[in-house]
Amino acid sequence: MRGVSTDPIIPRPTKYKEFLKTLAENSTIWFTIVLKETGEFMGQCSIKWTEPVKNRDGLLGISMFPKFWGKGYGTEATTFIVDHAFRALGVQRVSLTVLEGNEAAIEVYKKIGFKEEGRKRRGNWIDGHWEDSLSMGVLDEEWAERYWKER
Ligand SMILES: CC(C)(COP(=O)(O)OP(=O)(O)OC[C@H]1O[C@@H](n2cnc3c(N)ncnc32)[C@H](O)[C@@H]1OP(=O)(O)O)[C@@H](O)C(=O)NCCC(=O)NCCS
Repeated sequence: MRGVSTDPIIPRPTKYKEFLKTLAENSTIWFTIVLKETGEFMGQCSIKWTEPVKNRDGLLGISMFPKFWGKGYGTEATTFIVDHAFRALGVQRVSLTVLEGNEAAIEVYKKIGFKEEGRKRRGNWIDGHWEDSLSMGVLDEEWAERYWKER
């Protein structure tokens, strides 16, 4: 998936699975996304706190298999995990990094309330050209204002 990483696109050795396992285990919370009707595995989303006590900044990650894209599932899963991070984990902001060519992801993030906070120019070489890498974030009061009004 071109949008997920700025790493070189190369075949991964089997031990890469161990790296991913460690990543999952070190995440604060890592959800499996499944199709409600069948339980089929669709993808994953996670929140990681690099510094939980002082800054309470949760780092969001999400990816799903392409056959599930464009049907609203990404918006549903992202909204769920951000809401969970604010209401149940007590973060005060959620952060993420996204590549400028990842238009669907940027659309989802903006739609649910993330704002662009910074832009690393030429953050990624992909498909023969440079793309910027964007930092985005949403604060707890922005989220509460938008989603918790009626609670
Ligand atoms: C990012 C991801 C989770 C989004 O999930 P999704 O289920 O496709 O998202 P949704 O269907 O809920 O919403 C996608 C939105 O992007 C829009 N979109 C899709 N392609 C677009 C494009 N090229 N330009 C602009 N908007 C686009 C859709 O119209 C939709 O918006 P709408 O609901 O207002 O119509 C999914 O594409 C994915 O797993 N990608 C690979 C991994 C990845 O890139 N992760 C993010 C790393 S930061």
